[in-house]
Formats: sequence, C-alpha cells, structure tokens
Amino acid sequence: MNSGADFIVVANRLPVDLDRAPDGTQRWKHSPGGLVSALEPFLRSRKGAWVGWPGVADVDVDEFEDEGLRLSPVTLSSTEVRDYYEGFSNATLWPLYHDVVEAPVFDRAWWDSYVKVNHRFAEATAAIAEPGATVWIQDYQLQLVPALLREQRPDLRIGFFLHIPFPPVELFMQLPWRSEIVRGLLGADLVGFHRPGGAQNFLWLARRLVGLEPSRAAVGVRTRPGLIHVGDRPVRVGAFPISIDSAGLDGTARKRDVMQRAQQIRQDLGNPRKILLGVDRLDYTKGIDVRLYALQELLIEGRIDPDDVTMVQLATPSRERVEHYQRMRAGIEQVVSRINGEFGRVGHPVVHYLHQSVDRRELVAFFSAADVMVVTPVRDGMNLVCKEYVACRHDLGGTLVLSEFAGAAAELTSAFLVNPHDLDGVKNALHAALMIDPAEGRRRMRALRRQVLTHDVDRWARSFLEALGSQGLN
Ligand code: ADP
Ligand code: F6P
Repeated sequence: MNSGADFIVVANRLPVDLDRAPDGTQRWKHSPGGLVSALEPFLRSRKGAWVGWPGVADVDVDEFEDEGLRLSPVTLSSTEVRDYYEGFSNATLWPLYHDVVEAPVFDRAWWDSYVKVNHRFAEATAAIAEPGATVWIQDYQLQLVPALLREQRPDLRIGFFLHIPFPPVELFMQLPWRSEIVRGLLGADLVGFHRPGGAQNFLWLARRLVGLEPSRAAVGVRTRPGLIHVGDRPVRVGAFPISIDSAGLDGTARKRDVMQRAQQIRQDLGNPRKILLGVDRLDYTKGIDVRLYALQELLIEGRIDPDDVTMVQLATPSRERVEHYQRMRAGIEQVVSRINGEFGRVGHPVVHYLHQSVDRRELVAFFSAADVMVVTPVRDGMNLVCKEYVACRHDLGGTLVLSEFAGAAAELTSAFLVNPHDLDGVKNALHAALMIDPAEGRRRMRALRRQVLTHDVDRWARSFLEALGSQGLN
C-alpha cells in the first residue's frame, strides 16, 4: 500500500481508536466526537486516505486499510500525549476558543510539543500525497500543518477546517503564540469555519498580526468567502456549517428493530409520561450541569412531578486526565446523586446517568424514545447531537431545547432556543417543551427536519471542496 493518495484527510485522531484490554488483547473501536461522526461516512464513500493518531501513546502501527479507507497512523509518545494533546490542545486552545469558560493554561513546553507534533503530521502527509493531491486538514490540534506542509509540498491543494468556534479577537489575542497560529493557517488555500463570525475574526487577525490586507466585504454562509493575498497566493476564508449523514440516520431510525428497541427503553425506564435526554462527550462546554440544575429546580418547585418525568444523560468519557474535566465530572455526578437522593424512589431514579459511549443503533433508539432532547452548551462550534435527534424523528415526535450558543442554533430556529446562562429561561423552556401541544410539536419538528435533511454532511463537504477547487469530488 505504498502508492500515493490523491485525497487525504488529516486529523488528530484516526476514525478508529486502538483499544487495549488489560489482558493484552486489542481491537479497533469507533473514535469519539463530532469530527469523526461527520467525516467518516463522507470519506468512506470516496475511498480517501486518513492520517491521524490511533488514540494510544507509544504505539507504532503500520498503515492499514479499513473497508476501503486507507488509514495512516501517526505515533505520539506519552509525553506528547500529555503536552501536545492534553496540554496545548485541550487545556490551552480548547478553553481559549470556547470563550474562556475555563482558564486556559499557557505553558511553553506544551507549545514546543505542539510545534513538534504538527511537524510530524505534515511530514506524514507529505510522504503519502500524490503530486497535486488535495489535502484537507482538520481542527485546532493541527493549525500549523497547513504552512508546514506547504513548505514541503507547494504542489498540493490544501484546505483547513476548524470544527470548534474561532474566538472573539480580544480572547485570541491572549495567546502568546497568536501570530504563529495565524501564519500556520494561512498556509492553506481555503480556511473554513462553521460561522461567518469566525471567518470575520480570522480576517481581522490576519491584518492585525501579519500585516496583510484582507477583503472587507461580509463573509456569507457557503458563499462570498473572504480573500487574503499572501504574496501572490490567494487564501480564501469562508463559513461552512458542518452537518450529519441525515438520510443514513433517518433510515436507521425507521428500522423495525430500532423502533422496538426504543419502546423497550421506555419500558425499562418504567414508562414515564415524558423522557428527557442529554447526549454529550463529558465536556464542561456542553452545559450538562445547566440542564441538571434546571431539572432540580423544576422538581423542587413542584412544576414537574418525579413520577412523570425521567431524564437520561449519556456521557462519553473524554480527556479524563485533564484537570478541568476531572473537576467537572465530580460536580455533575454530585448533582445527579442529589437529584436522585431527593426525588428518586427504589427502582425509579429520576436521572439515569451513564458515563459510557453507546453504539450507533442504540443511540438512535434513545433519540427515538426521548420526548425532549436537551442540548445546552455554553459554547459549541456546531453541535451535531441536536441535528442527529432531528434526523431520527421521522414520526415528527419529540421536542428540541437548544442553546443559542451552539453553532446549530442559527439553522435550527424552530427549536426552543435558550440562553444557558439564564437558568430561569432554561427552566421555562424545559417546562414548555414537556407540556407542548402535540400539533405545535409536530409543526416545529417538521420545520427542523426540512433544514437538517436538506443540509447534510455531503453538502457541507461538497461546498468546502468546491470552494477549494478540489479534484477530490467524484
Ligand atoms: P463534539 O464534537 O464536541 O464531541 P458533537 O455534538 O458535534 O460534539 O458530536 C458528538 C458526536 O459524538 C455525535 O455524533 C454524538 O452522537 C456522539 N456521542 C456523544 N455522546 C455519545 C455517547 N454517550 N454515546 C455514543 N455517541 C455519543
Ligand atoms: O470537534 C471537536 C473535537 O475536539 C474533535 O477534534 C475531536 O476529535 C473530538 O472533538 C473528540 O475529542 P478528543 O479527540 O479529544 O477525544
């Protein structure tokens, strides 16, 4: 498998993670997060190559093929996992780009490791790219790769997409390595963000930090990208809201066994009148605490009855060695046990909290079983979970409560939109969603589905690759 690849995705993680059991056996399992959920179906249908980390430290895995997809593993040492991944990526950039909801840590050794690992990804990609290939680099962990790759391989067509919010300029300016990051991204031919605001912020920074002259016209969604000339090379900067495999999920939700499983879930939960559902990576940006506090106050005030309402919170374990995450997990588990301690009965807890990842079909069954989907991030680049819920509700049942601070809120305007910092507002929206008149619920869900089914991940990828002028479309 040593021939070159003409279409390559480069991401911190491969779409599969190596899972090692204590007895030494190992298997590949689906990687967590929205990036993989979105890109994997698209790339599998195109038979591209994927360069990424296999998810565990110090393993050296040869390139291999997985159902037509060529996977090219990049090795990280345990020190690099600590400094580049847990450190600079997830304790510096992640909080900085999510409105500083936790304080970012600025550590010079972490930065050095970020630079070193970005070099490694650029080299691994340069080594497998055919002349003139299209390379699509993903997310905040790899912001230096566009420029590093261009130095080695000016023949390539290079795109970069950021899956998380790009912060307001006042916050970005805190970063000691701000110019290096902007210069790194400018190595791409096209830099993509979810929202026009992110693109606009980046254009401003290119002027302020690199002294370039970006275009001044407003950036549109999928249209009218901004333009910057780096020397005589044009760099386009645009907004491309990501989405999901809507038709695929819609089809899965219609399967008889999935519908039966949804009924079984309701039964297992004791057939409550209403089921609330949260599905997230266990991350402090997701506002899991916000929805729990809202539920708790509604119970305390007697506005909802614990015999009528059950909440399920599925939380995928995430970044468990990062301190911000450890604190948040302890806080959430405490509220869950308080609610259950006060309002639960034997055999009937109010909140079912699973610190687990469930498989795709099971997840679709949960979406189908839930009356109210609660998505309350304090900041989220897009949030795919809310779109997945909508795609699964071919029955037009179910109501979505969605934070205004998720990128998806700009598209899903028929949801109950809430400000997650306004607890009374969240409580009122939850209450209204639980009490909704069925005809009004169907009207809202129909409008949401129209948006999600017509704006799927394929459209997102095509619009990005067309703007990149890529030959990778087929
Ligand atoms: P992020 O990329 O920050 O994790 P997104 O909402 O964009 O957030 O994407 C999360 C993805 O992970 C979705 O595809 C969602 O279905 C999946 N997911 C989240 N929690 C779970 C879970 N507990 N079990 C299975 N899948 C999950
Ligand atoms: O989209 C956000 C994102 O950070 C992806 O880049 C990442 O793959 C996913 O969430 C899951 O996070 P992690 O790879 O740190 O487990």
